Amino acid sequence: MMQTYLELLNQAKAILQRNTITVTVDGKPYERTIPSKDYYVHEWLWDSAGIAMGLVHFNEEAAFNELLSLTAGQWNNGLMPHIIYNPGESRYYPPADQWQTTSFTRNGIKTSGITDPPLLAISAEYICNHASDEKKKRDFINNILPSIMAYHNYLKRYRDPEDCGLLTIVHPWESGTDDSPRWDSILKRIDLNTIPTNIKADVDLHRKDSRHHISQERPTEDDYYRYIYLIELFKDLAWDYTKIVQETPFAAKDILFNAIWERANEALAALLHTYGKQEEANNYQRWAEQTRKALTNTWSEEHNQYCDIDVTQGRHQAIAVPTNAMFMPLSAGAVTDKQLDILLHRLSLADEFDTEYPVPSTALNSQYFDKERYWRGPTWPITNLFIIDGLQRYKTRHKNVAQRANFLTIKTIQMIRDNGCWEYFDSTDHVTEGNTIGRGFSSFSWTAAILIQLIHMTE
Ligand code: DGY
Repeated sequence: MMQTYLELLNQAKAILQRNTITVTVDGKPYERTIPSKDYYVHEWLWDSAGIAMGLVHFNEEAAFNELLSLTAGQWNNGLMPHIIYNPGESRYYPPADQWQTTSFTRNGIKTSGITDPPLLAISAEYICNHASDEKKKRDFINNILPSIMAYHNYLKRYRDPEDCGLLTIVHPWESGTDDSPRWDSILKRIDLNTIPTNIKADVDLHRKDSRHHISQERPTEDDYYRYIYLIELFKDLAWDYTKIVQETPFAAKDILFNAIWERANEALAALLHTYGKQEEANNYQRWAEQTRKALTNTWSEEHNQYCDIDVTQGRHQAIAVPTNAMFMPLSAGAVTDKQLDILLHRLSLADEFDTEYPVPSTALNSQYFDKERYWRGPTWPITNLFIIDGLQRYKTRHKNVAQRANFLTIKTIQMIRDNGCWEYFDSTDHVTEGNTIGRGFSSFSWTAAILIQLIHMTE
């Protein structure tokens, strides 16, 4: 391995080690990695799943613990909440008590009430493919498989009641791409005037992320009013997901979330197959196939992209906004030859997705592009990883596919090497002396873990 890569790996490891904390919940110690010491001081579902995939390359035990620690926060109905709160922390908004969910968790652990893109099974499979201690691996699998199955069963039951293969998300935070312009048309229908003033006052008084940073890099205040308003509505519905899915003013079939859902069912089926549970494996394999077909069908000939679907309160309306989510069905294996050609072409266009540091979260020439703001323009390592993974799936179809995957891998490594492990990056700018294109929070665990994974992919 090149010396420079070794140095980079060491820097990434050091960040992960510094961000590891031990908390005692209900008398039991849990080791977990927080995303950043400055603000994200709890445990996030898709962050930790990604972090574990980096950890396994240098500390297998820590990778196992990271995922097991996540499952400690699982609800009785199988929901894996997107945040598991660490006790005694007040640096993050909204605080643990805002959700009122403790009666749903197993050990009184405080969690959010919504989920995140379901990366858990993908991470567990990756860890099993890279860990070497067979005994510990088997113990880990025996421990984690029931939780993953319960989570997938929850998602299928409550988020796809119509059995169409695509899950419904009920909050922009569930998409992991909070303020993506994909959600503007739905969110705009929530009239700010109908949001109670006490909710707005709470956000104004207590929101913390935008205080750390120039507010241009974070979601707007209006977005936050709506995010918190949705939480209050779900609380009023006593976290009854049959009702929430029907009544929420935000409901979408998200192509990113569902591409990960497809991949996660494939991963779960593979794990069950390896560990001798063939009948259960077949069930999740069937779900994966159903989702793959449904994703292929979200393609719009008119817009040359896959589209999310607004399913709020009985609607069925395609959302055609050019964001990097359109490339996620690659990783679900849902792409026809014609769609592959179009996606590759769009990835190569300098005024769309081939920016200085690709792949921007929103196409450069889109009216919604905002180079500084969160998921409205910046490049995120996690979505790049999924696009690379997706392209790899098709690399035998076309030599340009493999080239694009290699190009994105190298560019993403360079972006992190030249700037450090930031949360996200300005996709348009050159790095100059004394100027970073890193945005959001620095020393970010997820980015460090993805860097480790990408470097191992180049070996
Ligand atoms: C945040 O706080 O920014 C998250 O995306 C919501 O979990």
